[in-house]
Amino acid sequence: MQLRLVVADPATGRGRHRRPGRPRPYGRHQRAVQPLPEEYAYAPVITEGGEEAEPTAPQLPARLAFRRFWPLTKGDRRWIVLICVCVIAAALAETAAILLFSDLTDNALRQGSLSAFWSPAAQWLAVAVLGAGVGYAGNSLAVWTAERFVMRLRARVFGHVQDLPPHFFSRHRQGDLLERLTGDIDAIEQMVVSGVVGTVSAIFSTVFFSVAAFTLRWDLALATFVLAPLFWLAARRFSGRIKSVAREERVADGAITSVVEESLANVVLTQAYNRKGAEEDRLRREAGAWMRASVSGARMSELYEQLVEVIETLCVLAVIGLGAWEISQGRMTIGQLLAFAAFLGYLYPPIRNLGQLGLTLTAATAGAERLLEVLDAEPAVRDPAPGAAVQPWRVHGTVEFDRVGFRYPGAERPTLAGVSLAARPGEFVLITGASGAGKSTVSKLLLRFYDPGEGYVRLDGVPLHAVPLTFLRDHVTLLPQETLILHDTIRENIACGRPGASDHDVVRAARDAAADEFIRALPQGYDTRIDPHTAQLSGGQLQRIAIARAMLRNAPVLVLDEPTTGLDALAARRVVRPLRRLMAGRTTIMITHDLNLAPDADRILVLDHGRLVETGTHHELLALGGAYARLHGSQNGSLTDTGSHPTVQLGPS
Ligand SMILES: Nc1ncnc2c1ncn2[C@@H]1O[C@H](COP(=O)(O)OP(=O)(O)OP(=O)(O)O)[C@@H](O)[C@H]1O
Ligand SMILES: [Mg+2]
Repeated sequence: MQLRLVVADPATGRGRHRRPGRPRPYGRHQRAVQPLPEEYAYAPVITEGGEEAEPTAPQLPARLAFRRFWPLTKGDRRWIVLICVCVIAAALAETAAILLFSDLTDNALRQGSLSAFWSPAAQWLAVAVLGAGVGYAGNSLAVWTAERFVMRLRARVFGHVQDLPPHFFSRHRQGDLLERLTGDIDAIEQMVVSGVVGTVSAIFSTVFFSVAAFTLRWDLALATFVLAPLFWLAARRFSGRIKSVAREERVADGAITSVVEESLANVVLTQAYNRKGAEEDRLRREAGAWMRASVSGARMSELYEQLVEVIETLCVLAVIGLGAWEISQGRMTIGQLLAFAAFLGYLYPPIRNLGQLGLTLTAATAGAERLLEVLDAEPAVRDPAPGAAVQPWRVHGTVEFDRVGFRYPGAERPTLAGVSLAARPGEFVLITGASGAGKSTVSKLLLRFYDPGEGYVRLDGVPLHAVPLTFLRDHVTLLPQETLILHDTIRENIACGRPGASDHDVVRAARDAAADEFIRALPQGYDTRIDPHTAQLSGGQLQRIAIARAMLRNAPVLVLDEPTTGLDALAARRVVRPLRRLMAGRTTIMITHDLNLAPDADRILVLDHGRLVETGTHHELLALGGAYARLHGSQNGSLTDTGSHPTVQLGPS
């Protein structure tokens, strides 16, 4: 802690009432320890609406937002209290230093006596060392606590997001979600931990310094405080603008991240269709909006700061004016006046911080609101309550849809209506139908991504809503329509099917999936890193890796969504054998347009606009001459002999 004479700059008339080492109140990247984080004073104004119509100003009062996030400080509250104690102790030390300074000017300097110097100087040094120790401890603790809060909040949001239904992700741009999970989380920290510490610091500093000011010279102190409300008035005046601007900044950050993220994901489309120019335009548009916003945000904060400087100058002038009068009346010396003016350098920052506190909180609320939109999104399904859940049992694999009706949240028309189907343990049921008929929706209900609106889905006779989710998903394996690949090695990609699987298990699964050979041919074999966007493997190879993963999982029920679609005839033929090995002994629901495997199916169901229109075996349905026969006829040319060939039997080969 240092003390420096801070007086109004005679050249400009402006007071620079900042202590050395104290960051400017508008530092963009201040972290937890500053009395008043001002992230949002620089918030830009965005004019572009973006693709998501978000309200331009926070709707949520800061108080309510704070109340939503405060519970997350549980476990760290004693540390927050300790930080506040440190902050208060530091303010006390500073006050003591100010009083000692005035003591020094009054006695040692004015009387020119060296003997009057030593005692206050020693006390001052002691107070300074004490203040430095407390400041260091408090600031370190504050950073630690703030980061812990951020970590806890991030874990909480991340955990919540994992439970959200598929349609949530298709309705939000990924980049925007990313921004919410990163930037907005930081904003909330500013509101909670730093917000509380900042408030305590500003309030206690103001009170201590005011008391000191009144003990020093009550008349000058009064003059100081007469003009102080101007700081609050200025802050109020700006609060509305900063509110909306902060929200716009968060939205702009999300839009930029989205564009970058999307164009990276679509780089193949960009190159294949010569869309480089269009992509660059898109980025330029968003970046332009962001820049305009940044600039006008910065301009606004600069305006605010300059206004506050002018107000401070006014206050200083008022004090000097009063002082000049007092000196002319012989009631005060110039030394006393200078000492008081120096003191103002300490008094004003906390006063103006108090004025800005509301601004910071409202601005942080913008981030809080965006995060609450994510946190308040309901998972489509929940684990059954402990009392309502069935006990784990040995699953045989009977699957049953009982007059199931389903409508996607927000959709106008039902996707499934009155669908009933059953598959006994080990049976192979094939579901086919036109695109958009609702086939994949059946798989989503079976994995319980959603609950049906009407009717029941049952596993071994137990309605899915009574089955614990992890138990259900341990026993039903989904091979989704789009091959899901982790950004990891091939080994990890297969092993993630069953936690704790040994290398031996992984290789065996790969061998069964006819993947071992091509994996070994890769320079790094099983340790080759693959990536969903830039996989150096073909569609059929990726599909066989997915099959190996499902093999390893070894669940009694298997749901295959278009396992051969997207593969050419040769590649499709290559996955058929591994698929058959995978299906052997398991209840299999295969959703497909590809009717090569249809003759093997115990039952074929034809879906049309969410309704079951035909059920039967391949031969029965062909003989019926209805929808299935038409579908089959339309594929006749492309049907290969892989599936219906009598020499290829279902079962391990
Ligand atoms: N998240 C969603 N929100 C609203 N509607 C949806 C959603 N997902 C799918 N749908 C609608 O539900 C209907 C059935 O979709 P589904 O994915 O089940 O079709 P599908 O039979 O699997 O088609 P395809 O053969 O092309 O894969 C479609 O009309 C689709 O537009
Ligand atoms: Mg589908």
